[in-house]
Amino acid sequence: EVYGADKVDAETEIFGIIGNPVSQSASPLIHNPGFRAIKKNAIYSLFPVDAVRPFFRLADVLDIRGFSVTVPFKRDVIPYLGTISREVKQIGSCNTVVRVKDLWKGINTDYHGFLSQLMPAITSGRVRTALILGAGGAARAVAWALHNHSVKITILNRSAEAARKLAAETMAGWDVLENISEYSGKSDMIVQTTSVGMTPDSDEDPSAGYVFSGKEIAYDLVYKPHQTRFLLRAAEAGCEVIYGAQMLLEQGKLQFEAFTGYHYPHWLEPDW
Ligand code: ATR
Repeated sequence: EVYGADKVDAETEIFGIIGNPVSQSASPLIHNPGFRAIKKNAIYSLFPVDAVRPFFRLADVLDIRGFSVTVPFKRDVIPYLGTISREVKQIGSCNTVVRVKDLWKGINTDYHGFLSQLMPAITSGRVRTALILGAGGAARAVAWALHNHSVKITILNRSAEAARKLAAETMAGWDVLENISEYSGKSDMIVQTTSVGMTPDSDEDPSAGYVFSGKEIAYDLVYKPHQTRFLLRAAEAGCEVIYGAQMLLEQGKLQFEAFTGYHYPHWLEPDW
C-alpha cells in the first residue's frame, strides 16, 4: 500500500533506493505518496544490494529513472556517474542519482536538506561557529555545507584520529576538540551527526558533559526517536532545536523534485 502506482504497466517509471540494509528506509513513505498525489505513474522500490556495479546493469535493463543511495554506497556510486554536482565532488558523497538523457547524474540532497533548516540563522549572522559531533560521512557533509557558508568549524569525535583526518580535508583548518566540557557555551550551534541515540530508549548522549547555555541552536541528524537525549537536554536549557525528521523530509522533497521535475505537494505529510 505504500506504492505510488496502484498497478504497474508498460509506462510505469521505476525509482527506488539502494543500500545495505534498506528495509528501514523512510524514503518510500515520502516518494510513493508524492507520486500518487501528483498522479504520476511511478513506483519507488527497495533495492537491497551487495554491490553497486550489478545494480547499474539492472537499472539499465529496467530503465530505472532515478534512485536514492544510502549506507554504505554513497561514495561507491560516484565512479559510475556521468556528471556530478559541485557538492558531490567536494564531499565525495552522493545520495541521489537521476537519469539525464543517456547519463547518470549524481547530486546530494542531504547537503541541501541540512542547510535549508539553517539558512535564516546563517544569513542573519546568528550562526558563525559550529561544533560538530562525529566525524563520519554525515559529519563530512555537514562540515562542508557550513564551511561553504563561512561558518567556523570545530569537530569532536569518539576517535580523535578520525576527527583529525576530517579536519585535514580543508586548508582552512577546522579545529579538533578533545574535551567537550571545556567547550560549553562557546559555539553558536551544535550538530549531532553520529548514530548514537537512534535505538529506542537509548540514553546515550554524545554531548554528555557539555552544559548548554540556551543560546546555541541544537541540531540532531538522528530522526528516530524524534527526541534524542541530546535534543531533550538542549530544549530543557532553552535552546532552539532542529529535528532530524525536518532534514529527512527536506532532503526527500528535493530528491522528489530531481526525480519528477515537480515540487513535493506542500500539504503532504509523510506518515513515519
Ligand atoms: P555516517 O555516514 O552516518 O556518518 P559513519 O561514517 O559510519 O556513519 O560515522 C559514524 C560516526 O558515529 C563516527 O563519527 C563514529 O565515531 P568513531 O569515528 O569514533 O567510530 C560515531 N559513533 C558511532 N557510534 C558511536 C558511539 N557509540 N559513541 C560515539 N560515537 C559513535
